[in-house]
Amino acid sequence: MISYESFLSRDANAFRPSAIRAFARIMNDPNVISFAGGAPNPETFPAEQIATIAGQVIREKRATALQYGPTRGLPRLCESIATICRGRRIDCTAADVSITTGSQQALDIVAHTLLDPGDVVLVELPTYIGGTASFYARSAELAGVEQDDDGIVPHSLAEVAARVRAAGRRVKLLYTIPNFQNPSGRLMSQSRRSEVLEIADRYDFLVIEDDPYGELVYVEHADTTPLKSRDAAQRVIYLGSFSKVLAPGLRCGWIVAPPALLSRFEIAKQAADLCSGMLDQSIVDEFCARGELPRQIDKVRAFYRGKRGVLLDALEQHFRGTAEWTSADGGLFTFLTLDPSVDTTESIDAAVASGVAYIPGAPFFVDGSGRNTMRLTFAKESDDRLREGVVRLASVFATTKC
Ligand SMILES: Cc1ncc(COP(=O)(O)O)c(C=O)c1O
Repeated sequence: MISYESFLSRDANAFRPSAIRAFARIMNDPNVISFAGGAPNPETFPAEQIATIAGQVIREKRATALQYGPTRGLPRLCESIATICRGRRIDCTAADVSITTGSQQALDIVAHTLLDPGDVVLVELPTYIGGTASFYARSAELAGVEQDDDGIVPHSLAEVAARVRAAGRRVKLLYTIPNFQNPSGRLMSQSRRSEVLEIADRYDFLVIEDDPYGELVYVEHADTTPLKSRDAAQRVIYLGSFSKVLAPGLRCGWIVAPPALLSRFEIAKQAADLCSGMLDQSIVDEFCARGELPRQIDKVRAFYRGKRGVLLDALEQHFRGTAEWTSADGGLFTFLTLDPSVDTTESIDAAVASGVAYIPGAPFFVDGSGRNTMRLTFAKESDDRLREGVVRLASVFATTKC
């Protein structure tokens, strides 16, 4: 028998499997009410429209839809994405856009292009596990930055950056999800966004702004204007995605970045997959060209707005005084913080035995904290099951005072 260990690269030895995927088995048991998923609800997918468009592009545009395409993506879709981004007040044209195989590939490409082993990436506490996976896979070191309900805490960001610099190390990147963050559901305030950019200037690092949830807004007052919209110094690499508003099976995300970086990302992408799936891109392209996207976004918002209300009301009823949770003004998640004596990882078996599942918070914290937290999604279950799920959750946790 060959021992493959000696063949593995240094980076492969730094790979970290997703702590969340380990919960997949409990997510699909119909007896268990699941707050544990991270995926959009299939009821929001415009399946009939997609089927019609798919049939049409396959029959009528085979030379594009079934062929290799440009690494940066289908030109007309790049135009549509630039229009979407300008609608978000980002000053860009199609030449500033590269389409990726979901924004997850964008994270991998950016990490591959910018990170050497031992480079430091600053991440929010908590943060998205798919982001940290991409950075760990390049043998980077991750340092956590505190958040509160307004997003990244500036003095924590400056302090961590200063500490890394004092240790003779280089902070290359900050990874942030300012709009309805996964997992916390938080929205970073606009003044915090300005402060983050000032600190990036002061400590000379680049910023990955990951924005897959910015269109999923459920309240009037939320200002989701991206950091990228005020990026005078050109430090921000902006990532977007059609996954949450259209369908994640159409693996379609994008990067908006300065030309000198975009050309490097293009070469990394050539090595990864030559181009993103042309059938997926052709479908998304036609959907956008028909002007369907705004209507679809309205439908998706209405769908989740109701569910979010049901979950927040149930939490208010059963967890008031025993836990705190984020307001989830957009996105797919609320984040619950329980008494410090609680360990949500240890309680997961008891919860599943009571017929309810959640994602323990600890894996989202790179500093090993967050053991008394959990991520809840309102995306998956019916209103009745959301209410019943909170009752079950309360039977497991609500006895400990916060
Ligand atoms: C914050 C964040 N970034 C990126 C992704 C990846 O999305 P996709 O690759 O489907 O665009 C997700 C998926 O859940 C996410 O939550």
